[in-house]
Amino acid sequence: MLWGGRFAGGPSPELEALSRSTHFDWRLAHYDIAGSHAHAKALGAAGLLTPAEEAELHRGLDALSDGIAAGTVVPDPSDEDVHGALERLLIEEVGTEVGGKLRAGRSRNDQIATLFRCYLLDHSTIVGGLLLDLVDALAGQAEEHLVAIMPGRTHLQHAQPVLLSHHLLAHAWALLRDVDRLADWRRRVESDSPYGSGALAGQSLGLNPELVAAELGFTGSTANSIDGTASRDFVTELAFVAAQAGVDVSRIAEEVILWATKEFAFVTLHDSWSTGSSIMPQKKNPDISELARGKSGRLVGNLTGLLTTLKALPLAYNRDLQEDKEPVFDSIDTLEVLLPAFTGQVATLTFDVDRMAELAPQGFSLATDIAEWLVRQGVPFRVAHEVAGACVRECEQRGIELHELTDDDFAAISPDLTSEVRSVLTVEGSVSSRDGRGGTAPTRVAEQLAELRSRVADA
Ligand code: ARG
Repeated sequence: MLWGGRFAGGPSPELEALSRSTHFDWRLAHYDIAGSHAHAKALGAAGLLTPAEEAELHRGLDALSDGIAAGTVVPDPSDEDVHGALERLLIEEVGTEVGGKLRAGRSRNDQIATLFRCYLLDHSTIVGGLLLDLVDALAGQAEEHLVAIMPGRTHLQHAQPVLLSHHLLAHAWALLRDVDRLADWRRRVESDSPYGSGALAGQSLGLNPELVAAELGFTGSTANSIDGTASRDFVTELAFVAAQAGVDVSRIAEEVILWATKEFAFVTLHDSWSTGSSIMPQKKNPDISELARGKSGRLVGNLTGLLTTLKALPLAYNRDLQEDKEPVFDSIDTLEVLLPAFTGQVATLTFDVDRMAELAPQGFSLATDIAEWLVRQGVPFRVAHEVAGACVRECEQRGIELHELTDDDFAAISPDLTSEVRSVLTVEGSVSSRDGRGGTAPTRVAEQLAELRSRVADA
């Protein structure tokens, strides 16, 4: 018990049950111990521990660390949280005389704010690496299908032919921005160690927060102790990046689900990365993508829950803040289990490039090419759009595709439509003509693939 002095009796079992957080904050135990090592150094440097006392504390903390790793040191049901449990266990290890000195000049409020950051910093790096693996898988598929052509869609309708590689890389760029967001988040968080903020007002013992910060791998300590203990935007921001990444993955997932249908038949899923049905022997289901789509909902939910907990919460620390951990832990856990599976699924997709290419010009997706060809002949775009639209109307009435119109048909629609217009009525001609930066021409897509790869190398 951390606060016996002014209480005549212990907490009721109901309060204990409500208050307890060890079932979810025990995962922070190693970080709490690292914080305690650093704090012991600060106490020693301030002359509040003799060298022997400090050494004994480090020894005791190491013993706890070993016990935690081995699973022999665990919280007791009477422990409220990871901090209380570790203090009790340390005192059992080194005795009250020395163990009781470690709490001086710190509060669970600055402890949790610091070690929660440490945990999230480590896991943001893991998640960033997993996102890069997915970017790699997309880039690998793009490289393999560099010049394969597919129907590009807007409103899910055939729009213009594009390269499959171009489409896949569009997803990769979005994910790379999520990786970048994580790096940006880390830059802010790793310069902001709250140890030394105390409960809210700072500490009076002459401890050096910069020393603790450096020991824990931070580049600086918090400038305002109230902010240090009460702010949780580092949690919501990470939950946002997790939610955004989940949403980005869900957009790929939805396409895989569509592409794997009989109607699309663009992709075949690898046996090891798809599932069967317990009743329908023929089934091959895109469960990984469906779970990705579903889990993006819980990632958004976690972010929403965290923001709702923080809304209008007065300064400084309030116990509401104990609700900050489970949602973001869940977001991290979710991505750490989802991303490897999703990457495996993407890396092993087999594309039916012939079918994609065959469908690419259908639905009059080359109509824009006719209009732009006319513009290159000096026809105003407004007129060109009308003329190309008339071609589509003609084809629709006769149940044919644009390239099946004869020279006479073209001439009857507009005198500007000479037979040269046929040069853009192939999907290859269409994609090659979109050769401005970022466009779908094979040279441009090869260029963006190289650009993406160099960004990945720098990430
Ligand atoms: N376990 C708490 C949390 O996660 C930290 C303890 C602070 N408790 C307190 N009564 N000040 O937020």
